[in-house]
Amino acid sequence: MRLFVSTEMLWGFRWIFLCVLMACLTSLGFGMEENIECSDLNNTTWQQFRQHKVKLQVQYLLFTRRNVDCGHAFRQESLINTYFNVSHPTKVIIHGFRAIGSKPTWVKELAQALLRVEDVNVLVVDWIYRASFAYNLVVQHHKEVALQVSILINQLQKQGCKLESFHLVGVSLGAHVAGFVGTIFTGRIGRITGLDPAGPMFKRADAYDRLDPSDAQFVEAIHTDSDYFGISIPVGHVDFFLNGGKDQTGCSRSRFASMYGYVICDHMRALHVYISALNGSCPLMGIPCDSYEEFLKGQCLNCDDFKGKCPTIGLSENSGMVLSPVPKEQKLFLLTLSSSPFCAHHILVELKVSPLEKSAELEVGLRTGRVAVQQRIGLRTDTSLYRTVLAYPEALCQIGTIELRNTGSRFYRQGQVQVKSVCLSEFPSLRREKPLCVININIRRGTPWSHDLIQACF
Ligand SMILES: *[C@@H]1O[C@H](CO)[C@@H](O)[C@H](O)[C@H]1NC(C)=O
Ligand SMILES: *[C@@H]1O[C@H](CO)[C@@H](O)[C@H](O)[C@H]1NC(C)=O
Ligand SMILES: *[C@@H]1O[C@H](CO)[C@@H](O)[C@H](O)[C@H]1NC(C)=O
Ligand SMILES: *[C@@H]1O[C@H](CO)[C@@H](O)[C@H](O)[C@H]1NC(C)=O
Repeated sequence: MRLFVSTEMLWGFRWIFLCVLMACLTSLGFGMEENIECSDLNNTTWQQFRQHKVKLQVQYLLFTRRNVDCGHAFRQESLINTYFNVSHPTKVIIHGFRAIGSKPTWVKELAQALLRVEDVNVLVVDWIYRASFAYNLVVQHHKEVALQVSILINQLQKQGCKLESFHLVGVSLGAHVAGFVGTIFTGRIGRITGLDPAGPMFKRADAYDRLDPSDAQFVEAIHTDSDYFGISIPVGHVDFFLNGGKDQTGCSRSRFASMYGYVICDHMRALHVYISALNGSCPLMGIPCDSYEEFLKGQCLNCDDFKGKCPTIGLSENSGMVLSPVPKEQKLFLLTLSSSPFCAHHILVELKVSPLEKSAELEVGLRTGRVAVQQRIGLRTDTSLYRTVLAYPEALCQIGTIELRNTGSRFYRQGQVQVKSVCLSEFPSLRREKPLCVININIRRGTPWSHDLIQACF
């Protein structure tokens, strides 16, 4: 058959083509900026709560690289006129318990940090109406919220999103919400990150009722308050325990205006460290070890069991591990500093002393300009080799001075300590530097000793 096209018809096609193009451009966002209002998470009040006026209302906010500063209210029924792009991965942020019904203030910062690293859809789950006031009730309702989120994910899947492209980031109780969403999808979701997953009422819960490694293809958790609001057991494939996971540097001193802020400082540290890690100024690597005590004694210094790749906090696939299959409930330890960007260098101090007749105490100090860190080491009569790990803001090659002080008080009574050697090394060692050692030092009580290290970084 011959196709016959007249000039008129060509013009007609051209007009149709132009109209389609215009429609596309419009839906691509020309003029959309003005049309979509910025939206925020809601608050709720004690009064609303008491009057039982609030049903479960889960709302969503969408952030993308096209609207990093202005969250859009997101309705799951239709993606038309939204910036949601089904061919991009989706991050779902889930907040936790809100004691006084106030909206979480960190949501935008986390969304923006995620968007800086990856071109994704960031959906924020606002479930403030069920998350406030009575913790035990909130815990009872967390699965309902998970169900709502799973309905959303189902809808998005129908529109073309892949299940493995979802990454849920849950803070505190939000981590267990994420876990239950994962359970609903029988572990086929791509990734779950738990930021100090809630402890109370979850620690002894069945794995089904809390976040666990079977909830997603890769589950990771950061623990910062496991003796109080956080959970103390490993719940992911990898679990980063910061400073042992209980108490965080800079949190004990009350530098927060409000009591509330002071109480949750440890708990919220996981979130701030995560945001900082996404900002990417320095690596936060966890070192596998059975316990924090062993870690602090320098018994775990490398990631050789992980093919030399230490798991790193952030967005790299499987936390940067090349191990296959990924481990389960692997405890990882790292020390951090008290403020952003939080990364510390792990300095191993090895001390050899001559046998003592009485117990004693030495203080080791490291100094670089105005930066100084001290650590006391108790010396016993039955051993002469000591190892301890310090968090230091600078690399080994930047350490300018090492100091030793005999801090043994009357209680110890050891007059002087003969130090055979004191050695410093950094781990996990990337460049296999030799330890820095100083030998044969006699430390008297009341007479501090110090030594300038002449070295350079290459
Ligand atoms: C939430 O409460 C804060 C402080 O009370 C108020 O400034 C803000 O407008 C409220 N937001 C919403 C969405 O109700
Ligand atoms: C949240 O707050 C906004 C404005 O303050 C209001 O329009 C909306 O209905 C609230 N959402 C719910 C679920 O009450
Ligand atoms: C969605 O993302 C894909 C891949 O990045 C891109 O090619 C496409 O243009 C995006 N769609 C819209 C409507 O922005
Ligand atoms: C991350 O970077 C942004 C922009 O540079 C900054 O505003 C924010 O404070 C940083 N957050 C942290 C925790 O480092």
